[in-house]
Formats: sequence, structure tokens, C-alpha cells
Amino acid sequence: MVNPKDIDFYSLGFNFVETKTMFVSDFKDGKWDEGKLVPFGNIEISPAACVLNYGQGIFEGMKALRAKSGEITLFKPNENGKRFNQSAKRMLMPKYDIDKFIEAIKNVVKANEDYIPPYDSGGALYIRPMLFGNGPMLGVASAKEFKLIIFTAPVGPYFPEGFNGIDLEISKKYTRAAPGGTGSTKTICNYAGTMLPAKEAKSRGFAQILYLDAVNLEFIEEVGAANFFGLINGKLATPRKTGTILEGITRESILELALKKLGIEVEERDISYKELFDESCTEAFCSGTAAVITPIASVSLEGKEKIFNNKAPGEITTKLYEILTGIQRLEIEDEFGWIVKV
Ligand code: PLP
Ligand code: COI
Repeated sequence: MVNPKDIDFYSLGFNFVETKTMFVSDFKDGKWDEGKLVPFGNIEISPAACVLNYGQGIFEGMKALRAKSGEITLFKPNENGKRFNQSAKRMLMPKYDIDKFIEAIKNVVKANEDYIPPYDSGGALYIRPMLFGNGPMLGVASAKEFKLIIFTAPVGPYFPEGFNGIDLEISKKYTRAAPGGTGSTKTICNYAGTMLPAKEAKSRGFAQILYLDAVNLEFIEEVGAANFFGLINGKLATPRKTGTILEGITRESILELALKKLGIEVEERDISYKELFDESCTEAFCSGTAAVITPIASVSLEGKEKIFNNKAPGEITTKLYEILTGIQRLEIEDEFGWIVKV
């Protein structure tokens, strides 16, 4: 455990920093135990555990923020609880009661309160709920025993660029998810396969890959840990829910904010990557719990580059960022009832 006094909260990136306490609950003989807070630490696991051999695991990503008043906020935790259970269902794992999920989140946050970055640092306490099959299996089938863990880590921006734009490479070599697969599920299986593409893209100077659909290699899907938005012909467009993109909670919130707070028309539709290179696409950004709203400075494909707004954050991107983070930090009225105080 790192002493919170030794953490420089003002220069955090998105890296693991150990905190004091985690929540653990076990599923055995067909039911969940009560669950408890324990010191953060290693766990014992069978080498035959289903998660280690066949990847039967899911996770969520949430943040606790410190408001100016000192209050601690969560953003739409009920939505994370619902998605956790949808992911569990797809991966043939037991669901977890959503009220208990939120209660456990609150308790872990309270126990690690000293690790919540101060208001003016812009950082957050990242919350990582995870559920995996830890029962031993040899044939490919669901484990019978499962473990739920919720741990936390203080974080800064997901992309080191922060609210400065990132350069993305559109890939025609790699895809992230295929129809009928697990792309819309927050399963651990979707992430390991994106590491090599990301490493290759980084070696060419890009922050990440912008993935296309696996069938046509034509339509924008997402960034792999964040959803995509483009301002095209003055409308805010985002890829429709095809079952292959992760249906982001930030994505849903941005659609609502754009429509109701900025009066911008929104579209959930197929977006050809070619539209991004057209001058009708004037701004682009990606969204997620970790990524918040990260402006996209440029997209490139096979040597062709499109630069947005001279690489500076666009006007609508900036407005949406200010409104979203303003609500999350209790500076703008939460008229949608999105905030839960810890
Ligand atoms: N896409 C992927 C693959 C993700 O892992 C995430 C992060 O959770 C997102 C998009 C954004 O989702 P959310 O806004 O719910 O954090
Ligand atoms: C999040 O935004 O919370 C995520 O889960 C993305 C993650 C893979 C860092």
C-alpha cells in the first residue's frame, strides 16, 4: 500500500497505484456470500481456474470524484451495475444484486477516501469491479465458483495528452469485434487482443487505433477503450449499437447532453471512415469513463491524414466536456439525476 501522503495527485496518469482496501465476495454452491472489505492484496487461485484458462471474466470501470464542496460523487452507478449483469449473462456467470453492487462501491470508496485526488487536480479515484470464474475447469465450460472483487486506484487522464487531441490510426489490418461475438460485453477477452495493435500504432506515433467493423472494414466502431463521436454536417454522429461496440455510459450521456443542453441533432448510425476525411466532418472525439471526453486531433489511414480544427479541441467537444465534467463535479445542476453521492 502506498501512503496517500506520498502520492503526487497532480501528476497522476492512468497507472495502477495500490490503495488500502478492496471488496471481495465469493459465489459458491449456487449463491453469493455477504461479501466484505479486506486489505488490498494478492489472492490465491487454482492454475485450473476457468478465468486463467478460458478467460471467463468481466469488469466495469467507474470513477469517484471529489467536488469543490468536498462531497464525493459517483456517475450513474446503476448503469454500471446493469451492464455488469448483462456482461455476466453473456459470459455465463451469476448476476450480482445491483443495490448490493452500489453499496459495495460506496463502501470501498469510503474506505479509500484518502486516495481520492483533490478537486483541483482534476483526477479521480478509479473503481474497478471485476467478476471471474475461479472454479477449476478443464473442458471449456463455465466455472461453478466465482469471485467478485472491487478495487480502486487514484488516476489522472487516460491518455497522457489529457484534453489535448490524440492522433488515431484507422486500422484495416486488425478488428476488435465481430457480429455474434462479445464486442458489446465488458469481458476481459476483448482487451488482450487490442494490445499488439495499440503497440504497433504507438510505434508509428499514434495514441491508439480507431477500429472499423469486421465485416466491411468500412464503418467506424470505436477506439477500443472509448466510443467515437464525429460532428458531421453539424450533427453529432456516433456509431449505432451493432452488438460489436461497447455501449458506453458516457456515450449515452453525451447524446442526451448534446440534444437537450446544446440543441444539436444527434445520430446513431453507420459512419463510413470516408466521412471523416470529408470536410463535412469538423470535429471528432472519443468518450469513456477513463477517457472522459478526449478530443481527436487527427485520423490517419494508409498515409492519408485528416486534421481536425488545427489539432485544437473543437467548440462542441469543449462545450460537452465542460458540461459533463461540470455535472460530475457538482458545478452544474444535475437535472438528469445522474449523480449519486457517497
Ligand atoms: N468502449 C470500450 C471497449 C470500453 O472498455 C469503454 C470503457 O468502459 C468504453 C467504450 C466507454 O464506456 P463508458 O462510457 O461506459 O466508460
Ligand atoms: C473505462 O473507461 O472505465 C474502461 O473500462 C476502459 C479501460 C479499458 C481502461
